[in-house]
Amino acid sequence: MESEYDQKDIVVIDNGTDTIKVGISGEDYPRLIYDNKCGSHSVQNDNDNPNNKPQLLFGQDLKKVIKEKKLNVQLSNPIKDGKIDNVESMKEFWQYILEDGLQISELQQVNLLIIDQVKNTKEYKSKLAEVFFDYLKVQSVLFMNSATLSLFSTGLVSGLSIELGHAVNTVVPIYQGFPIMHALEFSHISGAEITQCLENDLKTYEISLDKFSEEEKQWIIKDIKETMCYIAGDYEMQINSEDNFTEEERSYELPDEQVIHITPKIRYHSSEALFSPAVLNKSGFSLPQMIVNSIQRCDKELRQELVSNMVLGGGTSMFQGLISRLQDDICQIYPGGAMRSEFNFVADFQRKYSAWIGGSMLGSLKTFQSLAINKQEYEENPEGKMSLIHKRTF
Ligand SMILES: Nc1ncnc2c1ncn2[C@@H]1O[C@H](COP(=O)(O)OP(=O)(O)OP(=O)(O)O)[C@@H](O)[C@H]1O
Ligand SMILES: [Mg+2]
Repeated sequence: MESEYDQKDIVVIDNGTDTIKVGISGEDYPRLIYDNKCGSHSVQNDNDNPNNKPQLLFGQDLKKVIKEKKLNVQLSNPIKDGKIDNVESMKEFWQYILEDGLQISELQQVNLLIIDQVKNTKEYKSKLAEVFFDYLKVQSVLFMNSATLSLFSTGLVSGLSIELGHAVNTVVPIYQGFPIMHALEFSHISGAEITQCLENDLKTYEISLDKFSEEEKQWIIKDIKETMCYIAGDYEMQINSEDNFTEEERSYELPDEQVIHITPKIRYHSSEALFSPAVLNKSGFSLPQMIVNSIQRCDKELRQELVSNMVLGGGTSMFQGLISRLQDDICQIYPGGAMRSEFNFVADFQRKYSAWIGGSMLGSLKTFQSLAINKQEYEENPEGKMSLIHKRTF
């Protein structure tokens, strides 16, 4: 732990479908990164638990139990598609994050910045507000969308935010800090789908991981994706040629020291789903088309600013070759034609955590206090809670 929690600090939590990123405003990176996983196991004949309520486990505690295989735990994901799916589990998870992870004993002193998907509704946020104020009893909460914060992490307040995460990809223009919602494009062909496709590809090429547990297997496939997969420069040409780019074949060492060979086709096939959903036998717009659609739905005067400030964020934006291919493909489909060099992408090396970093920056500004909803004003006017959420969630 770098420092103790100070009342003036803001706790920044980015609730992702793959991981939950947690830390303190003003710091460069999240201090803690939790898998979006909850383990539940039944406790019987416990005097302290007369209703036999299942015990929930998170973070390191959960990892330990899985590793030791002592308890029979049922795993679930409290966040699905960028939304809290199980509020009961998630409220205990947040409590665990604050008390156990950040070692904060007085939750009444906590100021929170909660980051979630841009398309989550105000009604949804008002349900979360109840959890934070009525259950956790924190001092203040600011709800902020990850698209704006991703852009903000690069120092921009206007531009096109392109967030490629685990369950959701969003493309949305931001003007002076506010998302232009009628120009929002989103797709579920994101990190999770690419991992699933890679798993199928490995099977097709008879690379078996069956000797590993399901948990280990998923970790390995994700690791292969993150360390070896890339976006093809010219997919059609490459996929139709023989695998003669021998220099691009990579060896991957499995945890039991067996070495497997990952051919170029395996390395660029699954990630192509971003450019062609047909790779997954799905329909929908490609990422370049989503970008063009989003820009075209804005006023002409704004388009040049968007094209010059296209900010990439989220883990799935880390694939090598992504920017160059986006420039090529967008150039080809942009109405009226445009030069490749006109499409300027901002891709910070820390973009895997871009939304959290933007939140950390916002939390360290004085404006946080004027934007956040505090417990007192939330409680003083029960009828006005919804209008408070409407006015003060972003
Ligand atoms: N170097 C990398 N190359 C490719 N993909 C990566 C890389 N690093 C992480 N990812 C993928 O990015 C995804 C996680 O991204 P991110 O943390 O932005 O998602 P999230 O915030 O948890 O989910 P969401 O925003 O969709 O709810 C995972 O699918 C992960 O495998
Ligand atoms: Mg995210």
